Amino acid sequence: MPAPLFSTPPTDLAGAALVAMDEATAAILGPALAEIDPWARMDYPASQLMAYLQANDPAVRKFAIRRDGATAGVVALRHPWLKGPYVELLALLPDHQGHGIGSAALDWIEREAAATQRNLWVVTSAFNEGALAFYRRHGFEPVGRLPDLVYDGFEEILLRKRLRVSSKG
Ligand SMILES: CC(C)(COP(=O)(O)OP(=O)(O)OC[C@H]1O[C@@H](n2cnc3c(N)ncnc32)[C@H](O)[C@@H]1OP(=O)(O)O)[C@@H](O)C(=O)NCCC(=O)NCCS
Repeated sequence: MPAPLFSTPPTDLAGAALVAMDEATAAILGPALAEIDPWARMDYPASQLMAYLQANDPAVRKFAIRRDGATAGVVALRHPWLKGPYVELLALLPDHQGHGIGSAALDWIEREAAATQRNLWVVTSAFNEGALAFYRRHGFEPVGRLPDLVYDGFEEILLRKRLRVSSKG
C-alpha cells in the first residue's frame, strides 16, 4: 500500500527543509505571522494563529519550514479535501521570502498529489496581490469569490490547479 500523501517531508526545498510542527515552533510562528500581511491587515490575532498551528487535527499535516537553523515559515495541507488537497497555509517569514522556497514547496505538493489527485486548492485574500500572482504563475486559476469568509469586509479568492490525473477517484 502506498504511503499517505505528504508523509515524507522534503529535506531540500531550495535550501530549506520541512519538519513536523511542534508546540514551541507554533508559539514562534503564531505571533510572527500576525505581524505580516495578510494577517496583519486583517488584525488576525496571534493567539488564534498559534492555536491553529498547535491544534492536533488528523486531517491536516502541518510542517515548519527550517532554513539555516531558523524557523522560516509554515506549510499546512488539508487532505483529503475536494478531489485533491487544500493548501491551507503557506507562509514564509519576510527574511525568507523571494528565495524560491514557496515555489519549491508548491512543486513538492504537486509531485506528491499528481499521481492520484485531480486538483490542488488554495484560498488567498483578494488584497494579497503578491500571493495571487504567485499562485497564478504556478498554474492556479481563480474559481470563486468568498466575501466575508474570514472577516466582514474582506474577500477571499478560491484558486484551483487542475492536475492531470485521468483516473476516476
Ligand atoms: C507568497 C509566498 C508564499 C511566496 O513564497 P516565496 O518563497 O516568497 O516565493 P518564491 O521565492 O518561490 O517566488 C517568489 C519570487 O521570488 C523570486 N525567486 C525565486 N527563486 C529565487 C531565488 N532562488 N533567489 C531569489 N529570488 C528567487 C522569483 O522572482 C519569484 O518570482 P516569480 O514567481 O515571478 O518567478 C511568500 O512570499 C509569503 O509567505 N508571503 C506572505 C504570506 C502570504 O501571502 N501567504 C500566501 C497566502 S496565505
